[in-house]
Amino acid sequence: MKNIDWKHLPFQYSKTDYNVRSYFQDGKWGELEVSQSEYVEIHMASTCLHYGQEIFEGLKAYKGKDEKIRLFRVDENAKRMRRSAKGILMPDIPEDLFIEAVHKAVTLNKEYIPPYGTGATLYIRPLYIGVGAEVGVKPTKKALFLIFVTPVGPYFRDGFNPVDIMICRDYDRAAPLGTGTYKVGGNYAASLASLQAAHDNGFATTLYLDAREKKYIDEAGPANFFGIKGNTYVTPESTSILPSITNMSLMQIAKDMGMKVERRKIPIEELEEFSEVGACGTAAVITPIRKIVDPDKNKFYNYTTDNKPGPVSTKLYNTITAIQFGDEPDKHNWITMID
Ligand code: PLP
Ligand code: COI
Repeated sequence: MKNIDWKHLPFQYSKTDYNVRSYFQDGKWGELEVSQSEYVEIHMASTCLHYGQEIFEGLKAYKGKDEKIRLFRVDENAKRMRRSAKGILMPDIPEDLFIEAVHKAVTLNKEYIPPYGTGATLYIRPLYIGVGAEVGVKPTKKALFLIFVTPVGPYFRDGFNPVDIMICRDYDRAAPLGTGTYKVGGNYAASLASLQAAHDNGFATTLYLDAREKKYIDEAGPANFFGIKGNTYVTPESTSILPSITNMSLMQIAKDMGMKVERRKIPIEELEEFSEVGACGTAAVITPIRKIVDPDKNKFYNYTTDNKPGPVSTKLYNTITAIQFGDEPDKHNWITMID
């Protein structure tokens, strides 16, 4: 095990020993190669550099009390990468290649998996880029699939503690029929200016509204949004948000807890009616929201008076992390062990 200050890890890149790569060319996938280089050599006319043919994924490996290593719903990340590839006309990427590559990347870097109880995990970043040389706007025929891993702490600095977020009407992250539902780099480029505006004003992230009407909640920075209303878990239905695997799992956990689940449009005014709201995702896990500020309307919505996460968010958080770390039975078959 590496000598790392596991308890104080930021959500930041740090070097590990190996990454794995496979090229698609001449209509087929090559061998999965192991590399020790942190760099990729690609053609200067690669479609990823000019026309945004770039897809990524994010998942984590968790070390349990039993020292065993678990992956959470890796098959869903494999499916989503495939779906994103279809969405921006990249060559199809087999789910079994994705899963094999995740296992290999984690196994090769086992010494970097944070110990149980530190709150840290090994973040797995699959990347899929068009590397065929094209000057005209057209899909690549050649592509590189790569996975690196890096140990991380919580995405939002405070971990499972409430943060404040800001509604920003000056920018859109994604168009209603654009690429918001795919995990492509361009969405994140489009989000940077509003994120900067949020940070400059002391907020953890931005709450995006639907781009067409600015009436409904879309998502919360690099995470989906949910609200709790009575015994109901409510989360946005939208064509411009990423279908979050964490959110999908929380919807199931909420049902298991006897809650009702609604996936539908959430008008901004409904923010008044939630007892708790949160952001959820692989990196964010569940990040409770203390306050949502709407500067254009001179309004704010407050969710805690004692600065603590609400009871439902706490239960959801405890349940999902207990499943991920192997402290609770995996009754939905979400876990894959790494041996
Ligand atoms: N929304 C966006 C824009 C994201 O980048 C992410 C992170 O992957 C999520 C939501 C959460 O998705 P998941 O739970 O699959 O990590
Ligand atoms: C994740 O939750 O895995 C993400 O991809 C968020 C990331 C953009 C930091």
